Amino acid sequence: MTRHDKLFIPGPVEVSAKTWAAFSRPMIGHRSEAFRELYRSIHPRLQTLFGTSQPVFLSTSSAWGVMEGALRNLVRKRVLNCLCGAFSDKWLDVSRRCGKQAEPLQVAWGKHIDPEQLDENLAGGDFDAVTLIHNETSTGVMNPLAEICAVVRNYPDVLLVVDSVSSFSAVPIEMDELGIDVLLTGSQKALALPPGFSLFSVSEKAFARAAELPDRGYYFDFLEFKKNQASDMTPTTPSVAHIYALQSKLDDIFAEGVAARHARHTRTNTLVHDWVRTHGFEFFAEGYRSITLTCVRNNRGIDVTALVKRLRADHHLVIDGGYGKIKGETFRLSNMGDETEETVSHLLACLDDSLSA
Ligand SMILES: Cc1ncc(COP(=O)(O)O)c(C=O)c1O
Repeated sequence: MTRHDKLFIPGPVEVSAKTWAAFSRPMIGHRSEAFRELYRSIHPRLQTLFGTSQPVFLSTSSAWGVMEGALRNLVRKRVLNCLCGAFSDKWLDVSRRCGKQAEPLQVAWGKHIDPEQLDENLAGGDFDAVTLIHNETSTGVMNPLAEICAVVRNYPDVLLVVDSVSSFSAVPIEMDELGIDVLLTGSQKALALPPGFSLFSVSEKAFARAAELPDRGYYFDFLEFKKNQASDMTPTTPSVAHIYALQSKLDDIFAEGVAARHARHTRTNTLVHDWVRTHGFEFFAEGYRSITLTCVRNNRGIDVTALVKRLRADHHLVIDGGYGKIKGETFRLSNMGDETEETVSHLLACLDDSLSA
């Protein structure tokens, strides 16, 4: 057996033995009654987590599939992409690759999307949709979602697409109450499932928009998902293994309690924040800090690559040495998924050891 290095990177994160056991259950046909039962067994709990009475869809793709699909389903012509880090910045490029007129609302990495600035942009432009990454995983910024949603609600023709890839199930996100038109998440981050799968939900307004657009394609056609979900199925052959794993994870989440899960993430994140402060480091995010991961500014000028290497070699723990253009200037510690005060404290103690080596 290969050595197990436990992941504390901001996704993929550690997958529990219980989840793996569910993932490796014997296969069933995706048009069978057993599959429909499986989908039915998870759907109400997914609606609760999404804060929606709309259908929740299962996509056998990583999150980018749905992120690109949202553009193809909702944008007639022009989209405003809110950019504050590597993943949100990429959405501008993807919009243009899909042939859409895309405008950036760019803020410096480390800053959050300012609702007032968003309002000014929307007032001045004829936009079909806005894209927002709630928790920008590269910088550790968690954008002020409620305030941003309140702004977009003042523009009834503008649909709001929210990526909650690294925040979903760790903080409350009430899709219907907030007026979000597409809420999406991936499997390998806050949900602590293996990568390669995503979940999303779509508002009635967004379905109506999709019906107007002829070039939705097939694999990510929201109306195909809607039609199939009505009979507890997916448009194409899904990764059944992921759905078994998701069922098991939902059992865990609801046994712990959704509010208790949120509180656990806040507590473990506080432990990391305290560690950052007591060790003379600073935060890369200037405010609006994520509660699922921490992007630490390397103001002490340590050798981040060496730290990452030592932690892995000596303790079999893996952290991330910074993403994209802030590699080495930062490092990131995740407290997503199943992590507890005990496991996060262990990580921090091992970091102390590797820092002093
Ligand atoms: C916030 C956010 N959105 C989107 C993605 C893209 O996810 P994937 O590569 O699984 O499609 C990531 C990946 O790290 C992410 O952190």
